[in-house]
Amino acid sequence: MIRFAFLFLLQAGGCAFAQQLPPRNTQQWALLSFVKADRANPVLQPDASLQFTDPVWNKPVRWAQKDVFNPATVVKGDTVFLLFRAEDTVGRHAGVSRIGLAWSTDGLKFTPFPEPVFFPQPGKFQQWEWEGGCEDPRVVQDSSGRYIMTYTAYDGKTARLMVATSPDMRSWTKHGPAFKNAFGGKYIDKWSKSGSIAALYHEDGRIVAEKLGGKYWMYWGDVNIWAATSDDLVNWSPVLYKDGEQREKDLRHNAPEIAEVKTVVAPRKKKFDSDLVEPGPPAMITDYGIVLLYNGRNVPSIGDAALAEGTYAAGQVLLNKSDPTNVLQRLDHYFLRPEKPYEITGQVAHVCFIEGLARFKGKWYLYYGTADSKIAVAVK
Ligand SMILES: *[C@@H]1O[C@H](CO)[C@@H](O)[C@H](O)[C@H]1NC(C)=O
Repeated sequence: MIRFAFLFLLQAGGCAFAQQLPPRNTQQWALLSFVKADRANPVLQPDASLQFTDPVWNKPVRWAQKDVFNPATVVKGDTVFLLFRAEDTVGRHAGVSRIGLAWSTDGLKFTPFPEPVFFPQPGKFQQWEWEGGCEDPRVVQDSSGRYIMTYTAYDGKTARLMVATSPDMRSWTKHGPAFKNAFGGKYIDKWSKSGSIAALYHEDGRIVAEKLGGKYWMYWGDVNIWAATSDDLVNWSPVLYKDGEQREKDLRHNAPEIAEVKTVVAPRKKKFDSDLVEPGPPAMITDYGIVLLYNGRNVPSIGDAALAEGTYAAGQVLLNKSDPTNVLQRLDHYFLRPEKPYEITGQVAHVCFIEGLARFKGKWYLYYGTADSKIAVAVK
C-alpha cells in the first residue's frame, strides 16, 4: 500500500519538473515487477553432504554445511549456473567461505557439484584469503568468452576486491587484488569489495564486458559505491575526483582513508538505503544508460522507518554511458525487500542481497542471498 501511494507522489512530482529535466517519471530504464518464485524458493540451501579435502587444513571439510548465499550467474546454452558462496562451520570465523558451482535447466531447481571450484589455497594468495575465505563472486565474460570473476578475499581483518579468470568456470587463475597496480599500489590494503563490471546482457544469456569511452568500467564498494576503470579487466584503477571537483559530504561514512576516490552513489536520508549502498549484479549497459541494480542497508531512525534495523533491500540507479560516474536517475523506492521467513531469519537477519542476474529463456532471473543463509530467485 505504501509503495503505491509513493509511486503516485513520485509521478505527480515528476510532472512539476517536466519542463526543465528529462521526464523523471519515466522508469522505462528500470527492471521492475520481479516476482519471487515462492514455490521454488529457496532454490539452494546448505548441504552437509558436500565434502572436499581442504588444501590449507589438508583434511575433509563439509564446505557448504552452514550457509550458501550471494551467487553469480552464468548462462550457457539451456543451463543456468550459480557460482555461490558457501560457508563451513569450522575455523576461527566459524565459516571459511568458498565458492561452489550449481546448475539448473529451469532456473529454479539447482544441483550443486560436490566440490567447490574456488577456495583459499596455500601459496601467495593465502595472505589475503585466510582464514576468512573467498566471498561474493560476480562474473562476466570478455569478447573471447573467457570468464572474469570479481570476488572478495577476506583475511579476517580487511576485505579486498580480487580478480580471477577461467576458460570454463571450473579451473580458475587468481590474479590478486584488483587495485594492486593502481597508483603505485596505494589501495592494495584498503577495504574494497563487490565489483560490478559494466556489461551487455545478450538475449542468449551471455554477459559480456564492453568498453565505454575506451575503458572497461566497474562499480565497487560498500558504504558508498565508487567506480574504477581498466584496459584488461584484470588491473583496475579507482576513479578519483578531478582537480576542482566538489566532494559532497557523505551522509553516513566518510571513508577518510580513500577520500580522494569519487563517490558515485551514496546512502540517502529517509530512504531504504540510508546506511550503506553496494553493487548488485554486473552493471547493465542499455540504450538508456548503465543500469545498476544495487543493495541498500537501512537504519530506521534516519532512513525508512517501515524497514527493520539493518534491512538489506534492493534499488536501481541509471548512470550516463558518456560519463559512468554521472547519476541520471535513481529509483526512490526499493524493488525487492525481505519479507519471507527465510529472508528474515538466518545468519544475518532481514537480508535480500541481489548479486546474480540471468537472461534465460526470454525472462530475467534475479538471484539473491537470503539472510546470508540461502539463495532465492525472483523472475520477470
Ligand atoms: C552525459 O555525460 C556527458 C559527458 O559528460 C554530458 O555531456 C551529457 O550532458 C550527460 N547527459 C545527461 C543526460 O546528463
